Amino acid sequence: MRSAATPRRSVTVRVPAKINLELIVGPRRADGFHHLATVFHAVGLHDDVTVEAADDWGVTVNGPYASLVPADGTNLAMRAARLLASAAGVDEPVHITIDKDIPVSGGMAGGSADAAGTLMACDALWDVGSSKAALEEMGAELGSDVPFALTGGTAMGSGRGDRLAPVLGRGHYHWVLALSDSGLSTPKIYAELDRMRANGRVPKLVPSASMMTALRSGDAASLGRALNNDLQPAALSLQPRLEEVLRTGMEIGALGGIVSGSGPTVAFLVPDNERGLDLAVALTASGVSPAVKRAVGPVRGAHIVTGPVAPRSS
Ligand code: C5P
Repeated sequence: MRSAATPRRSVTVRVPAKINLELIVGPRRADGFHHLATVFHAVGLHDDVTVEAADDWGVTVNGPYASLVPADGTNLAMRAARLLASAAGVDEPVHITIDKDIPVSGGMAGGSADAAGTLMACDALWDVGSSKAALEEMGAELGSDVPFALTGGTAMGSGRGDRLAPVLGRGHYHWVLALSDSGLSTPKIYAELDRMRANGRVPKLVPSASMMTALRSGDAASLGRALNNDLQPAALSLQPRLEEVLRTGMEIGALGGIVSGSGPTVAFLVPDNERGLDLAVALTASGVSPAVKRAVGPVRGAHIVTGPVAPRSS
C-alpha cells in the first residue's frame, strides 16, 4: 500500500502490432532460428504499457486477452524490465500494466510489442538515456520482432528478423484483420514448415521486386497482389479453417489477403476506409471469423504518450 506522501512516477508507452507484407523463410540456423527476409509493417492496433515505480516487481494485464498472458517473471515485458535494470545498474522495481488490444498468439507480435514498450518506458522512468540502437539491441535478446516494435513504419528485416533497414515506400493502407479464437504457437509453425519442406528447396532470401515496386508506388492493388508469406502453408496445415477465412475475404472483394506472420490472424488489404467497413461487416456476418478489427498502416513504432509524471500523492 502506497502512503499518501510517497512520490509516484509513471510512464506510458503506446506500441503497435505488426503484419508481415512479405515473409521469406530460409533454412534453420544452428541456434534454432530461421534465416528470414521480411517486410514488416506496423498497423494501428496497439498495446499501452505503463510502468510505475513500486515496492516490488509485478505485472498486470488488462483487456479481453488478459487471462492468456502470464503475469509472472516469464512475462516478456517483465523480462524486458529486468534486462534493462541489470544493463543500466538500476535497482528500482516497477509495476507494469499492459492495456492489451493486440491479440495473443495471433502472429501480430503482441508479446514483442509489450517488451518494446516496457524497454522504452523503463528507460524514461529510470532516466537511463539509452540510444535507440541500444534499446533495439536489448530488444533483439528478448525476441526477433522487438526491434521492429520500437521502430515501426514499414521496414525490411533480415537475420532472424531483428536486423532492420528502411524501406522506400509511400501511401497508407487500410487493413481488415480477421482474428481467431485459438492462437498458434510460433515455434510449432516453423517446425511444421520444416516438416513440409523436408528435402525440398528453400527460397532465396530476397524480397520480391513486385513487393518493392508496389511499396514505392503506394498502389494498394499492386501491394495486394505482392503479399506473400512462406509461413502461410504451415499455418493452414495446422488451422485448415483459415483457408475459408482467406477465401471468404477475397470473394467479398479484398485486394489481397495473407496470414499475418505465424498466424492465425488473417490480414486483408482494402482500397479505403469505407471498403474496410464493408468487408468487416461482411466477414462478421459470414461467421468465418469470431472477431474482426480494422487498422491503418504504417504507423509509428513505440512512443511515449504520458510521463514521467512526478511526484504525485495518492
Ligand atoms: O524470437 P521469437 O521469440 O519471436 O521467436 C519465437 C520462436 O519462433 C523461436 O523460438 C523459434 O522457434 C521461431 N523463430 C524461428 N526463426 C525466426 C524467428 C522465430 O525459428 N527467425
